[in-house]
Amino acid sequence: MAVTEQAPRGQLWHGRFAGGPAEALQALNDSLPFDRRLWREDIEGSRAHVTMLARVGVLSEDDRAAICAALDTVADELAAGTFAFAPGDEDIHTAVERRVTELTPVGGRLHTGRSRNDQVATDLRLWTRGAIDEIAGLALALGRTLWRRAVEAGDAHLPGYTHLQQAQPVALAHHLAAHAWALTRDVERLLDARRRVDVSPLGAGALAGSSLPLDPELSASLLGFGAVFENSLDAVSDRDFVVETLFALALLGVHLSRIGEEIVVWASTEFGFVELDDAYATGSSMMPQKKNPDVAELARGKAGRLIGDLTGLLATLKGLPLTYNKDLQEDKEPLFDAVDTVRLTLLAVDGMLATAVFRTDVMARAASSPYAAATDLAEWLVMRGVPFRSAHAVVGELVRRSVAGEGDLVDLVAADERLGPEAARLLEAGASVHRRTTRGGGAPAVVADQLGRLRARLDELAAALPPSSGSPGTAGAPEEGRG
Ligand code: ARG
Repeated sequence: MAVTEQAPRGQLWHGRFAGGPAEALQALNDSLPFDRRLWREDIEGSRAHVTMLARVGVLSEDDRAAICAALDTVADELAAGTFAFAPGDEDIHTAVERRVTELTPVGGRLHTGRSRNDQVATDLRLWTRGAIDEIAGLALALGRTLWRRAVEAGDAHLPGYTHLQQAQPVALAHHLAAHAWALTRDVERLLDARRRVDVSPLGAGALAGSSLPLDPELSASLLGFGAVFENSLDAVSDRDFVVETLFALALLGVHLSRIGEEIVVWASTEFGFVELDDAYATGSSMMPQKKNPDVAELARGKAGRLIGDLTGLLATLKGLPLTYNKDLQEDKEPLFDAVDTVRLTLLAVDGMLATAVFRTDVMARAASSPYAAATDLAEWLVMRGVPFRSAHAVVGELVRRSVAGEGDLVDLVAADERLGPEAARLLEAGASVHRRTTRGGGAPAVVADQLGRLRARLDELAAALPPSSGSPGTAGAPEEGRG
């Protein structure tokens, strides 16, 4: 029987069907509206696939060349926005394949030994890998901004808080660096997830591999994957890599929300610790005096949707039987949403912090309360042999008497026989910060040392990223590829 090259009509799977799809099915089923942004990865994956097919002798060299030329044309059309999507294009994979079959009579050979199940997993892994590199680069850029602002902060200090109650004075540099260290852990988590993203599922077929002499190692190496799947069933049903990426992004978003909340508090009239640049604040439509910290509030608010993206996908995956199920198509929207959200938020928070004016005079005044040095007084007694619990009681009693109106704490301390004038000098503004010389503590020399290590860590992580990371928009943007 002579089987000819066949141009498709409607859906690529039409052969088994006598009738066409219902409108409602199509509207529910089609993922093209959101997965079109995978087009670059889809074409890259197809190139690798046909190159592998030709090397193992399943595809002739001429057919490989014809399909690759058609893929080049499709890529040009998608990049230029001239690609004409057809009503039967369910998703980006069918759209690209359909167009290839229009462009070359041998296009029907492209999908040899491949299923959309291994194809979509391949595309999404490639996309996620690029997105991780981009987001990690932007997170490091924010880390560097925090580091630079910390260096610029010099000796400035402010109250450190627990329970949002003044606790002990700390250097502004110390405080800003704390947020940067959290970002270094976010980047570590993203890079760790990246190792498990970087595994090729191509060659797993629909679920069970292939009777054709495919070479999955070759396709993996052509796509620059670090590893190849071990189990074809796992390869097409595993979305751990999306979940892990979403977790890393959600936690990064939580860190940005904590920075955001602090800026909201600091920018309030009551605190007045920071003045936001006009470019990173908004006004009120009614109250002319208002300057609102919307970037900081949105940084706080966006964490909610990032957590939703993560928990939504976990709920989708829970209880799914092996292997591919259409439920898995629900992996893309939360991932795209989370990457887009974190990208925007990182850029805006970076700009906000880079341009903010820290009111170090207001901070210093707030930190000048003598009560803030109470712990240092107790430690001063400890160094003179007093058990800490007793020292705590001695100082606590003086604080209570001062609060009750018996006198300034400085005077009470100076007059106390167990403490005296030398101890009272600890209560001078900023004095106690200098005494905290333990590792990671608040003394200026120790903070300077920490900032050096922070910078080194940021540089080390930057070196672990591919060179192009950190330039915004490298992972396909939402509007790309519209026909
Ligand atoms: N659009 C689908 C997805 O995103 C592609 C895979 C379809 N596979 C299938 N067996 N229908 O998951």
